[in-house]
Amino acid sequence: MKNEVTIHGKRFEIYLSQEEISKRIQSMGEAIAKDFLNKNLILIGVLNGATVFLSDLIRAIDLPLEIGTIRASSYIGVKSSGNVVVDRKSLPEIRDKHVILVEDIVDTGRTLDELQKVFMQMGAKSIAIATLLHKPEAFEFNYPLNYVGFEIPNKFVVGFGLDYDELGRNLPAIYQIREHEY
Ligand code: IMP
Repeated sequence: MKNEVTIHGKRFEIYLSQEEISKRIQSMGEAIAKDFLNKNLILIGVLNGATVFLSDLIRAIDLPLEIGTIRASSYIGVKSSGNVVVDRKSLPEIRDKHVILVEDIVDTGRTLDELQKVFMQMGAKSIAIATLLHKPEAFEFNYPLNYVGFEIPNKFVVGFGLDYDELGRNLPAIYQIREHEY
């Protein structure tokens, strides 16, 4: 695991190691398994960022479960601004199922909020949120997130599914942008 990486000319330094991440995901999986015993469970990952977390999280949940993915993007700016567009063609069948929405990171929370509305309309029995990372300073809503891996400061991070202009998703750890790179 490298201590520092450069992506599109910007330098990032190690923030969360592979070991820390996998320990945390294991305990999130155990908590979910307790809460959803004997329930019709589906975990839905938000593409593309949540794929890495989703694949580790499902293997940490010792219960029968289904998985799905959904594509959502905010079309103004590079991140976290403007309206969230949900690709409804990509929606899995969720009627009468308990849904856990799986996110790589909850920043402003707009993506999440829009997706929750869509799932509610589609007849989900319940909706919970599992996110690997959360930036509480940027969050614009006041409801609790059910399963949070790590609360982090409001600084740009990459790795473990998170990208900087589509690169960096395959890094096995999480890296934070260096202070003077802003
Ligand atoms: P939200 O709608 O503001 O919560 O934004 C969620 C999306 O913004 C995430 O799924 C990421 O794709 C992106 N995002 C927010 N913060 C970061 C970051 O620090 N690194 C990479 N992507 C981020």
